[in-house]
Amino acid sequence: MSDLSIEARSLSKHYGQLIAVDQLSFEVGAGEVLGFLGPNGAGKSTTMKMLTGFLPPTAGSALVNGHDIVENSLAARRCMGYLPEGAPAYGEMPVRAFLEFVARSRGFDGKSAVREADAAIDRLNLSSVPEQPIETLSKGFKRRVGLAQAILHDPRVLILDEPTDGLDPNQKHEVRDLIRDMSSDKIIIISTHILEEVHALCNRAMIIADGRLLVDDTPDGLIARSRYHEAVTLVVEHPEQVASALSELPQARKVELREGELTVFPREGAKLLEVITDAVRENAWAVSELRLEAGRLDEVFRQVTQGEMS
Ligand SMILES: Nc1ncnc2c1ncn2[C@@H]1O[C@H](COP(=O)(O)OP(=O)(O)OP(=O)(O)O)[C@@H](O)[C@H]1O
Ligand SMILES: [Mg+2]
Repeated sequence: MSDLSIEARSLSKHYGQLIAVDQLSFEVGAGEVLGFLGPNGAGKSTTMKMLTGFLPPTAGSALVNGHDIVENSLAARRCMGYLPEGAPAYGEMPVRAFLEFVARSRGFDGKSAVREADAAIDRLNLSSVPEQPIETLSKGFKRRVGLAQAILHDPRVLILDEPTDGLDPNQKHEVRDLIRDMSSDKIIIISTHILEEVHALCNRAMIIADGRLLVDDTPDGLIARSRYHEAVTLVVEHPEQVASALSELPQARKVELREGELTVFPREGAKLLEVITDAVRENAWAVSELRLEAGRLDEVFRQVTQGEMS
C-alpha cells in the first residue's frame, strides 16, 4: 500500500436548501489521474474546494494521505497543490513577487522562497514575465501562474479545477503535456468539460451530476458504454439503397442514416467491419469514408447525465 491516497466518505455540501454535493464517496491512489466530469453546477468545484480544505463539508469527511481535511487541515494541505477555477487572486502582484509570497506561505523562508519561486518560473515557462502584474497577463500566462503556485512545493496530490479552460489549442496542449509529465508518482484530480481531455490525460473518470456520483470507470470503459461502440459508419453514394442492403446482414441490429452518414450497429457480440468491407467490395459501392467507431464520449455523457438516448 502506498502512503498516497485520497478518501472521500459521504462528502456533502449544502447551501441552504441546495444540495451541491450529495454523499460522495470514492478513493484515489498513487498514479491515478482522475477526470472529474459533469454538467455546469454538478458540484465539481465544490468537491475540490472541500478536498483542498477551502470549504468545510456540511457532512461526511475526507482524508488526504490519511490526514482529515478538517481535523488536520494543515497536514492535509501541505501535501496538496490546488489550482482553483479561473484566474489566481492577487492580480496586482507581479509574477515573481506572487510566487515568492506563495513560497513563504508554504513555509519556505528567505533564500529558499526565492529559489522555489524561480524554479516554478522555470518549470512553467514564465521567465519572460517575472515582473509583470498578473492581471495584465494573457489567459494562458495567468493559468501558468496558477499552475506554478499549485506545484511550487512539489506536492504529491494535485487538484486542478478546469486547468485548460479558455486556453487556445497550443496552450491546452502545453498544459496537458505538463500534467502528463507530472502524473506518474502523484494523485491528480482534474475537472474538465472537454471530454477528449479525459482520454488524453486520465486513467480514470468520474461523472457527477446534482452532486451525486453516476459513473466511475476507465476512459475506455466509459467510451465502451456508447451505443456507437463497435458500430461501423460509412459515407457512400446512394445511401438509402446501401442501408437497406446492409440491414439484411445477420450481424446488423440496426442501420441509421444521419446527416449523410450511414451507421450500422452490431448485434450483441457481432463483428461488423469485415462483413461490411466485403459487402462494399462485392457490390462495388462508391464509399468515400468507412470507419469502425470506438464510441462517442459526448453521447455517453448526455446519456448518463440526462438519461437521454440519442
Ligand atoms: N457559495 C455558494 N453559495 C450558494 N450556492 C453555491 C455556492 N457555490 C456553489 N453553489 C452552487 O452549488 C452547485 C454546485 O456548484 P459547483 O461550482 O461545485 O459546480 P461545478 O460542477 O463546478 O460547475 P461548473 O462546471 O459550472 O464549474 C451549483 O448549483 C452552484 O450554483
Ligand atoms: Mg466548477
